[in-house]
Amino acid sequence: MTETPTSPMLSRVHTSAPDTDSAIDRTIPEFPAATPIDEDNYFRLHKPPPYLSQISRDVAEFINFHHKQNRKVALVTSGGTTVPLENNTVRFIDNFSAGTRGATSAEYFLENSYAVIFLHREFSLLPYSRHYSHTTNCFLDYLAESPDGTKVEVDDKFQKKMLVVLKKYRYAKDQNLLLMVPFTTVHQYLFTLKLIAQEMSVIGYDAVFFLAAAVSDFFLPSSRIPQHKIQSKEVGGKLVVDLEPVPKFLRRLVDSWAPIAMIVSFKLETDDSILIDKARAALKRYNHQLVIGNLLQTRKKQVVFVTPEGERWVKLTPPQIKNRIDIESILVPEIISMHGDWIQSRKEIGL
Ligand code: PMT
Repeated sequence: MTETPTSPMLSRVHTSAPDTDSAIDRTIPEFPAATPIDEDNYFRLHKPPPYLSQISRDVAEFINFHHKQNRKVALVTSGGTTVPLENNTVRFIDNFSAGTRGATSAEYFLENSYAVIFLHREFSLLPYSRHYSHTTNCFLDYLAESPDGTKVEVDDKFQKKMLVVLKKYRYAKDQNLLLMVPFTTVHQYLFTLKLIAQEMSVIGYDAVFFLAAAVSDFFLPSSRIPQHKIQSKEVGGKLVVDLEPVPKFLRRLVDSWAPIAMIVSFKLETDDSILIDKARAALKRYNHQLVIGNLLQTRKKQVVFVTPEGERWVKLTPPQIKNRIDIESILVPEIISMHGDWIQSRKEIGL
């Protein structure tokens, strides 16, 4: 069983767990998938992030490096996107995602010989360092003073596990297997996703898209964002926010940005009675290979794979839960096996 530090500071209370009984009604139908016109409007009317050309160079170099070695590449998206309410942003709308799913899954892709582009919310959890950076797992609790009080050392209790994590991290770094690409806003996420997808088209079916990020459903178009901090006097003490739906670009990803790659999306719900129907509807709407359904309350213990052939639950057993096995250690190898079948099927039709 994994050792974790104990400290009187470490409360077992989690304030981030929402009251799911009062969540919004998710039974209403989703917005339609984005069309080429929606894509054109969105990317024409919004300015690209200024650093995009740097990311383009880094991604192209990374893809070429691994393409030459016939290595498969996973794009793992992770964490939540923000929706700024002001250009000089003081206030923004955010969501709950800490990036656990994405950071953990990236580690299992790396362990299975994939290279990983980790498109993540800046300051969310990262592969390997996630073991020590969570606020309920303060890294200082893993450290101790040396016997003579002059140095910092890893506490004996944690040496063994930390050495394993450190070796894997160093290996990924030294072999250039992990490219970190950050985003914060939904706008940065969409521009960067499109760019990376297009760069990855060079490797065709050797690419897998693992879209675990929690992307905002609504945003404030740049034409309506105030430049400076909204003054409470100006809005008469009330702030009324009128948001637009974010175009559902998954369809554009499947049809145009990455038409030969294998695409895995996630469906998050809070009501188990609608999860599978919603996941199946997403599969039909976007026409890709796999939707992984998960419930907010149980997402770390069970997920459901929904494919055109049917659905199948992946659940941790009670001993696995007790031993803190990551569910991603089961679901990522299953996806990799499906990716192998996908590649085979593409070869058979001559792609
Ligand atoms: O980070 P953790 O705390 O570990 O939580 C992990 C998770 C619960 C966030 C993750 O497992 C998960 O379910 N992620 C997807 C949640 C989500 O955004 O669902 P959605 O129904 O809004 O979007 C479904 C898919 O459509 C996403 O894969 C997204 O890539 C895509 N999408 C969404 C919005 C948009 N404008 N365009 C899209 O293409």
